[in-house]
Amino acid sequence: MSLTIETVKALQKEHGDAFYILDSALFKQNYANMMREFSSLYANFNIAYSYKTNYTPKLCKLVNSMGGYAEVVSEMELELAERIGVRSENIIWNGPVKSRDVMERFLLSGGTVNLDSMEDLRLAAGIAARHGGQKMNVGIRCNYDVGDGVVSRFGFDVDGGDFEEAMDVIQKSDVLHLKNFQCHFARRQLAYWPARVRGMLALLDRLGFVPDRIDLGGGMYGNMPEDLKKQLGGNIPSYRDYAKVAAGMFAEKFAKTEFKPELIVEPGSALVGDCMKFVATVKSIKKVRGKIFATLLGSQKNISMSGVNPPIEVLNMGNDGRYYSDVTMTGYTCIESDVLVTGYKGYLSVGDVVVFSNCGSYSLVMKPPFILPNFPVLDIENGAWEVVKECENFDDIFHTFSF
Ligand SMILES: Cc1ncc(COP(=O)(O)O)c(C=O)c1O
Repeated sequence: MSLTIETVKALQKEHGDAFYILDSALFKQNYANMMREFSSLYANFNIAYSYKTNYTPKLCKLVNSMGGYAEVVSEMELELAERIGVRSENIIWNGPVKSRDVMERFLLSGGTVNLDSMEDLRLAAGIAARHGGQKMNVGIRCNYDVGDGVVSRFGFDVDGGDFEEAMDVIQKSDVLHLKNFQCHFARRQLAYWPARVRGMLALLDRLGFVPDRIDLGGGMYGNMPEDLKKQLGGNIPSYRDYAKVAAGMFAEKFAKTEFKPELIVEPGSALVGDCMKFVATVKSIKKVRGKIFATLLGSQKNISMSGVNPPIEVLNMGNDGRYYSDVTMTGYTCIESDVLVTGYKGYLSVGDVVVFSNCGSYSLVMKPPFILPNFPVLDIENGAWEVVKECENFDDIFHTFSF
């Protein structure tokens, strides 16, 4: 969806000089496309949307209405899933820190907790000991080498004694049910995916046990323009590429078995990255020792992209557009490194608007209340603008402080 100057003017009038534009229709399309690519190769497949990536309730509700699961990593996100009406059996609780009381309530309600540490195991075993008779679903976050050069701190080393102990405790329990194995590796390159799948399948072979489901985590790229692909090193895989590896290897492995475990992935960025734009107005342009700076109402923290020039479109709405051959676009904060774009070439004027694309993941959820409250989020699903997040104000930031 491209924005016209008329549309931006109308939105500025109502919502100010900076705002996010959500394209929830594109989000639904991405979800359906990913679903189709994976399930056409391996039918028992589902998506668990990673709330942390962009927990806008409208998006989480859409996932729920399309039959997807909620992947949450905190009590806050768990509460969000519950408040929007996700059934407990459709919620997967990952993450390194969980409290006993909430874990107990959640397990009793039928949710699945993926254990990340011996501490999690002790909590779950303690809860199980207090509640004979009712099955409680737990999983194990599995940690193994996929050749990405990262020693992840999450989950259980599948070759370590803690993993064996966790398996032993769960399998000896009348209450704990080992619902799934889960993993997640952050590096998105396709090269690491075969090792991710092989690691899981090798684990099943070693244990001689197949749980109800295998959850391969997130860590996939989404759709993006060619220029961004180039800056990320080219060779950006498509949903189909990931599906061919993950669902393809599952289809092969379970071709002849009667029981086919459910395959899950936990995408965040891959679904939501291209579904948000950030609109920022140019507030000043200056020259300092030969270098041209344009300061925007908007910050690097709003788009959460560093080390690359994000895809932008400049809407010339100001009055004194001049041609520049090298502009550094900077943010409203007082941080020198708050740079959004380097090397911009083209016309620019105070009052122009810069539209940043592909900023749907880890953007508004990671924006700190540093210097300014965050900007509103507007969605244009059915041809009409809907405010899905109000502009934050002074009280949103300061109501928890004592004055
Ligand atoms: C356990 C888990 N699942 C899913 C995700 C989502 O990953 P992505 O944003 O790459 O899709 C993350 C991100 O850190 C994660 O830690």
